Amino acid sequence: NQNPIVITIDGPTASGKGTVAHRVAKHLGFQYLDSGALYRLTALLAIWRQVDLEDESAVAALARSLPCRFQHGHVLLDGQDVTDAVRAEAIGVAASRIAVLPAVRQALTDLQVSFRQPPGLVADGRDMGTVIFPDANLKIFLTASAEARAQRRYKQLIEKGIPANMEDLVKDLTERDARDSARATAPLKPAPDAQILDTSEMTADQAVQQVLEWYANAQKT
Ligand code: CDP
Ligand code: CDP
Repeated sequence: NQNPIVITIDGPTASGKGTVAHRVAKHLGFQYLDSGALYRLTALLAIWRQVDLEDESAVAALARSLPCRFQHGHVLLDGQDVTDAVRAEAIGVAASRIAVLPAVRQALTDLQVSFRQPPGLVADGRDMGTVIFPDANLKIFLTASAEARAQRRYKQLIEKGIPANMEDLVKDLTERDARDSARATAPLKPAPDAQILDTSEMTADQAVQQVLEWYANAQKT
C-alpha cells in the first residue's frame, strides 16, 4: 500500500469522534478530516439558498462545489465564519437528511479522498472505514451509551453559549442515529475489520491513548 497512512474513526453522534480524531492527529502530526463538517456545510448552504433538502440533484450540485475554506480552526462558507453556526443541532439534523442522498455522498467523495496527504490522515465520520478509505491502516468504531452522548453534546453546546435542552437532544440524537444506521447508502456500521471502542466510562484522553496504542501495534505488523 503506497498511499499515505489513514486512521479512520467512525461512530454515532457525540461519541467523541471529533475530539479523539483531532487529538490523535495532533499527536502524530497527521492531517485531520472532519467529514461530518462537509455534510453540515452542504446542509447549511442549502438552507441559505432555499434549496429543498430532498431535491437530490440540486443539493448534490451545491456539494460538488462547496464554497468553503478551513483556516486556523475556523470554517468559512461563502466567506462567512460559520464555525459555531454549523455545530447547531438543527444543522446536524439537516445534515443527516441530505446524507441519505446517494448523489450528495458521491459529490463529496473526491474532496474527502483529497485529504489523504503525507505523512498521514485521521478521518472521522460515519463511513470513513467502510466506504471512503476501505484500505485504512487502522479502523476504529467509537461508541458510548445514548445517555453519555446526550450529556456530552449538552455540555458542549452550553459551553459555546448555544441554547440546548436535554429532552430535545436525546430525541434528536436518537432520530439522527436511526436515520444514519438505516439508510441504504453508506449506513453507520462498524467495518468488519474495525476495533470497537466503547467510551461510556472513559475520558477522551483515555480513548486517545487506546487508539495510539492500537496504532503503534498496527505499525509493528
Ligand atoms: O465528533 P462527535 O460528535 O462524535 O463528538 P465530539 O464533537 O468530539 O464531542 C464529544 C464531547 O464529549 C467533547 O466535548 C469531549 O470532550 C467529550 N468526551 C469525549 O469526547 N470522549 C469521552 N470519552 C468523554 C467525553
Ligand atoms: O458531530 P456529530 O457526530 O453529531 O455529527 P457529524 O459527524 O458532524 O455529522 C453530521 C451528519 O452528517 C451525521 O448525522 C450524518 O448523517 C452525516 N455524515 C455522514 O453521513 N457521513 C459522514 N462521513 C459524516 C457525517
